[in-house]
Amino acid sequence: MKSKVLLSVVAAGAMTLGLAACAAPAADGDGADGGLIGVAMPTRSSERWIADGDALVAELEAAGYEVDLQFAEDDIPTQVSQVENMITRGAEALIIAAIDGTTLTSVLQTAADSDIPVIAYDRLIRDSENVSYYATFDNFLVGQQQAWTVLNGLGLTDLEGAPLPDAPAGPFNIELFAGSLDDNTAFFFFNGAMDVLQPLIDDGTLVVQSGQTDIEQVATLRWDGETAQSRMEDILTANYSDGTKVNAVLSPYDGISRGIISALTDAGYAVGVDFPIISGQDAEVDSVKAILAGEQYATIFKDTRELAKVAAGMAAALLEGGTPEINDETTYDNGVKIVPSFLLGPVPVVADNVQSALVDTGYWTAEELGL
Ligand code: BGC
Repeated sequence: MKSKVLLSVVAAGAMTLGLAACAAPAADGDGADGGLIGVAMPTRSSERWIADGDALVAELEAAGYEVDLQFAEDDIPTQVSQVENMITRGAEALIIAAIDGTTLTSVLQTAADSDIPVIAYDRLIRDSENVSYYATFDNFLVGQQQAWTVLNGLGLTDLEGAPLPDAPAGPFNIELFAGSLDDNTAFFFFNGAMDVLQPLIDDGTLVVQSGQTDIEQVATLRWDGETAQSRMEDILTANYSDGTKVNAVLSPYDGISRGIISALTDAGYAVGVDFPIISGQDAEVDSVKAILAGEQYATIFKDTRELAKVAAGMAAALLEGGTPEINDETTYDNGVKIVPSFLLGPVPVVADNVQSALVDTGYWTAEELGL
């Protein structure tokens, strides 16, 4: 039954991805004038943004554009000046994954004054009317999937949230982590997860021993793994020193999960004995290995190749006089306007479908995952 569920989840994700690949305009080079497109990524410290940058360069160059790709190492002034330089260099379009989604208002006004379209890449740019389009995943669904993977690991539901027969009654101790409060997606992930978890907290199936359930209390600035590690250490010291065990941890991102795993390991938790169920996101190599080793239960795979295709297609359509394909015109209000968006489908990954979701799709090789 479990593998059937997995197959249908993966198939659904693949279908969404397939649809996106067809529906989004291809950056096929027709009519391209070889102009410059600026691509601003937040940091090289996470594998996914490197993969995103590489995939965008490949898509855009194949379409005949020149690309200025910059990483800002999570420093806001650096990202602002990188975007300024792209405009000075004559960029005709900008694709930006913001570090802090609220800090680009002024530089985007400069872009608008020169009629340069701006595509928000995976992270919504807030407080500016000068955001043309948004390419991302269904972020609320990502959060729900993170929660469902946690419940699946506890034996309560399948990976789509349907209750399992003979589910244990609990109660289970769970601790909650969220992403960076300056990243709009962090709210979507956390709200999606709490949409699933809150009813179970309310009925006593899940217990948050620390009492920390507000996003402000559980957020992790810049999605930093060490910050998460020390918060987990503090939680363990304050709430679990009497032998009470934490059974599950909601984590929004693989780098945060690795920090949580370090804190748990240092506190004496052992795989196969009492290791908690931990979620994640991004299918980073080390975390997929941790899933195979039983330290992390799940991650959420977001195919950066597909996202790059969508964003590059949007830029090409805008520069070639077309209209970018969108599939959402209601969800992403950036404080000034609702930004027309294209949402891709995320795919939950547990040990059972690492091969089909990540290796068979060519995202990672078996060698890279140590298979
Ligand atoms: C992305 C996630 C990523 C996180 C940390 C978010 O904006 O949507 O995929 O895990 O940033 O880099």
